Amino acid sequence: MSECHSELAQKSLKDFASTIEDKMLSLLPKPDGMEERVIDAMRYALLAGGKRMRPFMLVEAAKLFSIDDESAMRVAAATECIHTYSLIHDDLPAMDDDDLRRGKPTTHIKYDEATAILAGDALLTLGFEILASEKTHPDPTVRCELVTSLSRAIGAKGMVGGQMIDLIAENQSLQHDEISRMQHMKTGELIVFSCEAAAILAKVEGEKRDALVQYAEKIGLAFQIVDDLLDIEGCSTKIGKTAGKDVEAGKATFVSVLGADKARLLADELIDEAIQIMDVFDDNADVLKSLAAFVIKRAH
Ligand code: IPE
Ligand code: IPE
Ligand code: MG
Ligand code: MG
Ligand code: MG
Repeated sequence: MSECHSELAQKSLKDFASTIEDKMLSLLPKPDGMEERVIDAMRYALLAGGKRMRPFMLVEAAKLFSIDDESAMRVAAATECIHTYSLIHDDLPAMDDDDLRRGKPTTHIKYDEATAILAGDALLTLGFEILASEKTHPDPTVRCELVTSLSRAIGAKGMVGGQMIDLIAENQSLQHDEISRMQHMKTGELIVFSCEAAAILAKVEGEKRDALVQYAEKIGLAFQIVDDLLDIEGCSTKIGKTAGKDVEAGKATFVSVLGADKARLLADELIDEAIQIMDVFDDNADVLKSLAAFVIKRAH
């Protein structure tokens, strides 16, 4: 395992959480009119806690290219809106049927199923509204590339497709490469966007952009392996969601195929590779390297 330490990222993540929460609050529509309930539910899900790893990656990657803070924070907020939508829908009775998320009742338990579906829909569309705004980047070509790249990352060939495979694969065994593909689509693609968006904002192509994508692909897979390990080894209070759901639902994961020990070794390897890839940024990527170490050490 790499010598890289997770403490730097852990502390920075904590400090970052309230900054991104303030930003997201400022971007939420005003809660008035008869539609107020859906906006309340969006706020409830968004502000329920969460590690804020994706927006943090985005802001840290943006620092590598000296991107304007406001641009980076807006794209970061959009990414967290989309991630939160995916969690609300993932928890619905028709999907993973969970009643605990980020240590609180899931949105459909706190409100009701219809409100949760609509709050997810509205967070998804809010994410794109934020990206499309001139305030995010003065160049419309950049804004279009952000929108296209995020659409691909979370659509039928990305996160949504991965979620479809995850559901179909309940009680059906998948091969190693099929699981890899599913986890990359379901979890990896949004994490890749969170890093690549910095290069899009900076109009950077080539070695540095490729490095960010490869780093994020490896983090994405390792992140989902650790999520699957925590489902087995963690307790609900600590992970803030119901433990033991994957075995109960018969989910196909690296842990179900390789066993916990081999899955953890694979995650370790992926993290080591991710850290090495970031050498191309010299010392400037210390926080992102530390974040990679945090992904493997995290307990929630
Ligand atoms: C959980 O993501 C869903 C997965 C893709 C594994 P996180 O572990 O980042 O959830 P929060 O945002 O911290 O609650
Ligand atoms: C969800 O994966 C990935 C998403 C796209 C939301 P999981 O179903 O394993 O996430 P948790 O464990 O409920 O957070
Ligand atoms: Mg799921
Ligand atoms: Mg789930
Ligand atoms: Mg899980």
